[in-house]
Amino acid sequence: MVCLGNICRSPLAEGILQSKVHRDKVQVDSAGTAAYHVGEFPDIRSIEVAKKYGIDLTKQQARKFTVRDFDAFDLIYAMDTSNYQNMLALARNTADGQKVRLILNEIDSEANTEVPDPYYGGTDGFDNVYKMLDEACEIIATKIEKL
Ligand code: 4NP
Repeated sequence: MVCLGNICRSPLAEGILQSKVHRDKVQVDSAGTAAYHVGEFPDIRSIEVAKKYGIDLTKQQARKFTVRDFDAFDLIYAMDTSNYQNMLALARNTADGQKVRLILNEIDSEANTEVPDPYYGGTDGFDNVYKMLDEACEIIATKIEKL
């Protein structure tokens, strides 16, 4: 799960997907394409909205996406088009690039809808992001279970 800072959207996506899959079978992680917040806990607003739904984000720590993530993961979900393009720019070959998807395309594959960046807004934005990610992660979890 990848966003810009790895403190708002992708920590939520990580926590939500992790809650829907078997921990011993599926490794879920998140990262940011920028390094501004490396080492930080998720934004308190993400922690609070997740807590409301019974998901704990407090063990997470921000890190930057690296080219090694293409080797470590089979599916890489970008929250928005900018994250998507930034990761594609790091892809070493077509196989790397094909791992990268826009997360909300799991809901509507043609729409290219982005998860809006809630960082500069209020808590409503985080609730909205939670709902979008929950819907997408439900679809992803069902898909992964069939692999
Ligand atoms: P995120 O949100 O990409 O969902 O973690 C942001 C966090 C920090 C910044 C931008 C977006 N920032 O500019 O510091």
